[in-house]
Amino acid sequence: MSKPVILTGIRSNEEPTLANYLGAFLPMVNMQREFAGDYQINMFVPDLHSFTTPIDHSALYRNTLNNLKYFIAAGLDLNNPDTYIYRQSYIPAHSELTWILDCFTYVGEMSRMTQFKEKSAEHSESVTVGLFNYPVLMAADILLYDTEYVPVGEDQFQHLEITRDIAERFNNKFGEVFTIPENTKAQMSFIHRDKGLRIRSLTDPTKKMSKSSSDEKSKILLTDDPEGARKKIMSATTDSIGVINFDWETQPGITSLLQILSYLSGRTQDEVNAEWVGKDRYGEFKTAVADAVANFLSDFQAKLAEISDEVLLAKLEVSERAMSEVANATLHRAQVAVGLRPKEA
Ligand code: TYM
Repeated sequence: MSKPVILTGIRSNEEPTLANYLGAFLPMVNMQREFAGDYQINMFVPDLHSFTTPIDHSALYRNTLNNLKYFIAAGLDLNNPDTYIYRQSYIPAHSELTWILDCFTYVGEMSRMTQFKEKSAEHSESVTVGLFNYPVLMAADILLYDTEYVPVGEDQFQHLEITRDIAERFNNKFGEVFTIPENTKAQMSFIHRDKGLRIRSLTDPTKKMSKSSSDEKSKILLTDDPEGARKKIMSATTDSIGVINFDWETQPGITSLLQILSYLSGRTQDEVNAEWVGKDRYGEFKTAVADAVANFLSDFQAKLAEISDEVLLAKLEVSERAMSEVANATLHRAQVAVGLRPKEA
């Protein structure tokens, strides 16, 4: 019996942020520590997803490798036999299954995707078909490996739900071709969180911290120099309430900093809140967060410098070969279902 699959991906369009680290890298590494042995862990870079909005293409290949190095620096153990790392574009079944799924996905449901609406407003001069179609490629990424769990941040929940809808629709028409991933509630309880993580922009805490934002002060990059990052935290937008509270509605800036402090210090949110909630010393609080962020970046960057391309490329080659076989087998099931290939005798 093959092991149940946990899968996640992070795009390589821009330098990843602290939010990506906390929302994607860290949960995956913790998951490997907790579940390897019982589960298969697929960690991939959706490089085809990386240019649905304009990017610097000359940096894409390098950024893709760097992204994988970030995972390793975050603690992912490459020697673990249940862990696979790969690049989406190296496994052509992703693109091929996307086309098939496209023909069972409605324009109406894609138009309702929040991320599409937000990003097409941001890049209104060039809204591409790729941006529109993005969630279907994501569905293919998940369904090709019979994935059960997909640890992602809250901003990706809608894409996960649409993946379930597309897979259910396909199965209803053709029989059990795809494994339906668990719903977002089950996903969250699986990774011991009742709510998705949503680290906010440092300059506008009503928005998420986004790596594609052009406002450098809104985000902490994993490559930021620790002193610069410290300054960004010290000047983060908070509020004029004057008392620290954990409340996303009224104090999203302070609350996001409390959350960052909890994750980086390895203490529970309750412990961190017990230390700070009710106090009025915003400056002292920000200094504590800034120290945690600067220390984290120094450690992380030191680890990153030790990872060689050779080790990474060797692991990629083995993983990509193994995952191509799995993906091709699922693609073949879908091709048989829609009549592109003969049914086995
Ligand atoms: P991407 O590359 O935008 O983000 C990667 C991961 O980081 C999480 N994340 C956040 N978490 C908390 N707070 C934030 N401010 C924040 N910003 C980003 C995202 O939720 C995500 O988990 N479509 C995906 C990539 C993808 C994928 C997949 C993921 C493609 N195919 C299949 C899982 C399974 C994306 O754009 O993530």
